Amino acid sequence: MKVLGIESSCDETGVAVYDTSLSGAAALRAHAVYSQIALHAEYGGVVPELASRDHVRKTLPLIRQTLDEAGIAISEIEGVAYTAGPGLVGALLVGAGVARSLAWGLDVPAIGVHHMEGHLLAPLMEDDPPEPPFVALLVSGGHTQLIAVDAIGKYRLLGETLDDAAGEAFDKTAKMMGLPYPGGPQLAKLAELGTPGCYKFTRPMTDRPGLDFSFSGLKTQVLMAWRDSDQTDQTRADIARGFEDAVVDTLVIKCGRALDAAGCDVLVVAGGVGANKRLRAKLQEAAQRRGGRVCFPRPELCTDNGAMIAFAGALRLQAGQHSPAEVKVTPRWDM
Ligand code: KG4
Ligand code: ZN
Repeated sequence: MKVLGIESSCDETGVAVYDTSLSGAAALRAHAVYSQIALHAEYGGVVPELASRDHVRKTLPLIRQTLDEAGIAISEIEGVAYTAGPGLVGALLVGAGVARSLAWGLDVPAIGVHHMEGHLLAPLMEDDPPEPPFVALLVSGGHTQLIAVDAIGKYRLLGETLDDAAGEAFDKTAKMMGLPYPGGPQLAKLAELGTPGCYKFTRPMTDRPGLDFSFSGLKTQVLMAWRDSDQTDQTRADIARGFEDAVVDTLVIKCGRALDAAGCDVLVVAGGVGANKRLRAKLQEAAQRRGGRVCFPRPELCTDNGAMIAFAGALRLQAGQHSPAEVKVTPRWDM
């Protein structure tokens, strides 16, 4: 089954074709992402109305480009998947409207996909994918969750953030230190130039049992350290390194606990912060120590993309599911 996937929940338009007749990474026939970063940069964050309008401009050209790259005619598409939520309502409606119209015109089924289920299953698009049960760490701009995946579609929440998501903490901390939007990847880059151990911040909520997270206090600690510092470039890099180490250590500690709690030795990591190099290296080391396995999507499939939506939608369509023929989105939606 060849499934067209459309992602438009926030500031990235993503389109992909996933072909279930192929296996491993080859099944992703083509995918393309158009990022609106430049559009929102001068506002220091995503402006919802501008995001919707840009999705309107970019979705159809991106579909054409992706089909061309895959060497597939639109008439060969056998199902359409789109992000139905959570996300910005106007942005979601653009993707849902296009997906629904195409499905109607082609007379094929369409399915609305939960954005976070897309992220969660993204690592399974790589070669030698892990089979459930496993534990998933979902770390994005809006979510930080540990989830026990008993089977595809059967998810148990083990722990989550009580305030800021990990990506949000990266973005807000970067902004506080004067880094341009979007801050997370910039802060991570800067941290590479910082001296480890110069600034030591707390590993929040690791001194007591439990699988929940809290990153807002850490952000405040960084703000105070930055205010009280000489604010040179090197200090900024040192603080960035201290912050990144604190977030990464906290995530690694809680992942270990979640694996213990679930009696499992396979960890899957997904979401934008999963692209963080230090997090990937530290989780890899921890997996080696435990004799377990950690699986990540390639970095470009960690951040928002259409491939994860095509894939999650293909699994559901193959299982005989589809959504009713209406353009309906769910901006706030628990998985
Ligand atoms: O999954 P995603 O693309 O969008 C959401 O669904 O939120 O995640 C975006 C988040 C942003 O907060 C961004 O700063 C963060 O992921 N991010 C990173 C890195 N790349 C993206 N955070 C730390 N290090 C990175 N390399
Ligand atoms: Zn996302």
